[in-house]
Amino acid sequence: MEQIKVFLNEDEIPMQWYNIQADLPTPMKPPLHPGTGQPVGPDDLSPIFPMNLIEQEVSQERWIDIPEEVLAKYLLWRPSPLFRARNFEKLLDAPVRIYYKHEGYSPAGSHKPNTAVPQAYYNKVFGIKRLATETGAGQWGSALSMACRMFDLECRVYMVRVSYDQKPYRRMMMNTWGAECIASPSTLTESGRAVLAEHPDSPGSLGIAISEAVEDAVTHENSRYSLGSVLNHVLMHQTIIGLEAQKQLEKIGEYPDVVMGCAGGGSNFAGIALPFVRDKIHGKNISIVGAEPTSCPTMTKGPFAYDFGDLAKKTPLLPMYTLGHDFIPAPIHAGGLRYHGMAPIISHLVKEGFIEPRAFNQIESFEAGINWARTEGFIPAPETDHAIAAVVQEAMRAKEEGKEKVILFNWSGHGLVDLASYEAYLSGKLQPYEMPDSEIERALKAIENFPKP
Ligand SMILES: Cc1ncc(COP(=O)(O)O)c(C=O)c1O
Repeated sequence: MEQIKVFLNEDEIPMQWYNIQADLPTPMKPPLHPGTGQPVGPDDLSPIFPMNLIEQEVSQERWIDIPEEVLAKYLLWRPSPLFRARNFEKLLDAPVRIYYKHEGYSPAGSHKPNTAVPQAYYNKVFGIKRLATETGAGQWGSALSMACRMFDLECRVYMVRVSYDQKPYRRMMMNTWGAECIASPSTLTESGRAVLAEHPDSPGSLGIAISEAVEDAVTHENSRYSLGSVLNHVLMHQTIIGLEAQKQLEKIGEYPDVVMGCAGGGSNFAGIALPFVRDKIHGKNISIVGAEPTSCPTMTKGPFAYDFGDLAKKTPLLPMYTLGHDFIPAPIHAGGLRYHGMAPIISHLVKEGFIEPRAFNQIESFEAGINWARTEGFIPAPETDHAIAAVVQEAMRAKEEGKEKVILFNWSGHGLVDLASYEAYLSGKLQPYEMPDSEIERALKAIENFPKP
């Protein structure tokens, strides 16, 4: 019988996260205080995050121990299986072996609990009672709601309006785990009210929802803010995915030629990719490809610049690929990929040539996702469909070149709560949405006079 899955035993779960900051050949630019233009220090961040997470954010240690309490929760779904997509391979009829990490296997249905659980844990041990956050498609909001319940914290989630309407079941998941879910822009915060005054029908964006959640956290007692992507510590928590994949591939004597993932803020892609970027830094010949939507082409069309992480300019200035903090992407169904910026670590690695970005529109992505569902069975999240579109492209290239390739990618989540988007695709109602250059030029005016990295 042909092998489909590679498992790790529970006692083979990695006991440490990998911090790529220790291995970067060139140092990253620091985040800047927007008022002073100086690098932000841990104290600047302390009203927003607990100090134990701030320490992780700036740590230069290569390996960080995963606390026992976090490992105990991880074991509910980790180690996640590594699958070989033999049926999809047959459909593509290309000289490729395709492996994927199944992160849809977690209770919330995506990779997001890998950081939600440690973030809730570190806030709890720091004495915080309540977390506020934003969510795009609702994957992050539901993951944090679950994690807060595990550690007995209150949780409020600002959910981007367009996804709040498209994906009511994610809101119900958050409520089931005991969290509050508010459509953003909302009337609960100054930032939300300011947007609504100008655009009463605003579809919202991650940038707006982040402003609301940060404002909420700093105006409530014993509260902190929690971010589901972009930051260094979030990416580091996700490296458990790639570390497990390395052990699993080793068990079957394989090593990838190409590692792929979709990228919104960059965390799931980082999770699978960063342990392999480490190998690449040490000389391995391997391609590492991040897939983003053509409607929000941050890495493929944006400049590398200092910009705010949110619309209301409440975050530090981050060195990253960006489309400008006031850019509101088209309402594509992959809500988790609608972010104007990209994680500074991923941005740095793109700039230094370790990572190659590619953009895919939502039509080709859904087509890939439907073919996946019809061969492999599992229905992917619309975000994950972008990674599958990248896998298809890579397989077709291998076929043209007549080259055998091993492809590894991160199957970041299932789409069982996103079925309305599949219905829209199947009934021909979806637009491909390419972002016009004129709109990028307009949005980038907002950061024209910012410091240059
Ligand atoms: C299933 C899934 N994949 C990918 C992403 C993109 O986020 P990130 O780039 O942080 O992994 C999201 C975000 O919500 C998601 O829900």
